[in-house]
Amino acid sequence: MNAPEILSDVPLAPRTTLGVGGRARRLTRAALDGLPALVLDAARRGEPLLVLGGGSNLLIADAGHCGLAIELTARGRTTQDEGEHVLVRAEAGHDWDDLVAWACREDLAGIECLSGIPGRVGAAPMQNIGAYGQEVGESLVSVEALHTETGERRLFSVADCELGYRTSRFKHREAGRWLVTAVTLRLLRHGAPALRYAELTRRAHDELGGSPSLGQVRALVLAIRRAKSMVLDPEDADARSAGSFFTNPVVDEAAVDAVRAAARARGIDGPVPAWPTAKGIKLAAGWLIDRAGYPPGWGDGPAGLSSKHALAIVNRGGATARDVVGVATRVRRGVRDAFGVHLIPEPVFVGFEAGPDPSAVLDAAEQDL
Ligand code: EPU
Repeated sequence: MNAPEILSDVPLAPRTTLGVGGRARRLTRAALDGLPALVLDAARRGEPLLVLGGGSNLLIADAGHCGLAIELTARGRTTQDEGEHVLVRAEAGHDWDDLVAWACREDLAGIECLSGIPGRVGAAPMQNIGAYGQEVGESLVSVEALHTETGERRLFSVADCELGYRTSRFKHREAGRWLVTAVTLRLLRHGAPALRYAELTRRAHDELGGSPSLGQVRALVLAIRRAKSMVLDPEDADARSAGSFFTNPVVDEAAVDAVRAAARARGIDGPVPAWPTAKGIKLAAGWLIDRAGYPPGWGDGPAGLSSKHALAIVNRGGATARDVVGVATRVRRGVRDAFGVHLIPEPVFVGFEAGPDPSAVLDAAEQDL
C-alpha cells in the first residue's frame, strides 16, 4: 500500500455545507487500511485530528484547523441475511442518503424517514441522526471505530454507543477519541414505513392512501425537507447551512410553564409546541427563535436565518465563521431573554479559540456583543 498523499494548507470551507471557515494545516484522503498509521503519526506529532464526512454538521473557525484533516474514502456496503431482518454493514465514507435510497428500493424498513439527511454513514451514530419520528439508533446494531491516539480498533454494540437525542459517546463523553470506520444496521424486510410525525402521517394518508411503500414515504420526506431547504441543493441559497443550528431544548414542566407565560405576555396566540420525552419536555427551538423576534429570513448581513426555517443559519454569500457565530449568539441571547430557555448548538465546532464546546464559543462571542 502506498502512503496516502498529504496536502498542506487546504481550504475547508468548500468541504462544508455552510461554506465558511479557514484552512486545514494538512489534509489527506484515506481508505481504512491507511488510517491506523495516519492517526498514530498525527498523535505522535501532537496534531489534532478532524474527520471530514459530508461537512454538513460542521462549523469551522476562520482560523481553520491547525492539525490533520482526514477525508474517508471507504465506500460500499455488504449484507447478511437474518431471517426477516437483513444486517447491512456500510463503510463510514458511504453517502448516507445513497444507503437510505438503496434500502427503500430493496424494501428494507428502518431508515426511510432519514431520507435526504446530508453527510456520510460514519456521522450517523455520532449524533444519532433523526428526523420525522425516526432515529438511526432504532436500527443500529454496532459501530466499528478506531482510537485516535492508539490506533486500536474496536466494535461498539449499540448499547455501548450511549445514544441520546442528537448525541452519543463519540460526540460528547469521548469527543475526538474515536473515528467511526463502519456501521451495521438491522433492517426489516418488507417492513411498513414509520409514520409517526404528524405532518408526515397526515400527508401520507392524504396523498398516498392506505399502505404507502417505503419508496413513497421516502419521496414524501424529501418533499417536506426540500420545502424547508433541508436538502442540499446548490441552486437553493437557503440550503447553504448546517441544518438545524440548535438542538430542541429538553426542559422541565416549570420551564414550559414559564415559556407559556412569556408567550402570553408577548401576545403570542396558539399553543406552545411541546412534546413529552423520557428525559423531559422537548420544546421546538425553531418556534422559540421565531417567536423571540428572529423569524425566518432574519438578519441583514452575509449570515442570517434561512427564509424557510428559523432554526437554520445560512451563509448568504461571503459569510465568515465569525458572522455565523454572531448570528447564533444574538439568537441564543434573544431566546434566553424572551423565554428563559438556553439553546445549545447542534453542529460540531472546530478550531475556535474558546475550545471545542460550542456553548463556550458563543459565551465568548456574547462578551463582544
Ligand atoms: N417553527 C416555527 N418557526 C420556524 C421553524 C419552526 O414556528 O421558523 C415551529 C414549527 O411550526 C413546528 C416546530 O417549530 O411547530 C418544529 O419545527 P419542525 O417540525 O420543522 O422541526 P424541528 O424541531 O425544527 C427537527 C430536527 C430536524 C428534523 C425535523 C423533522 C432537531 C434540532 N431538528 O426540526 O433535524 O429534520 O425535526 O423531524 O431536532 C437537523 O438535526 O439538522 C435537522 C434538520
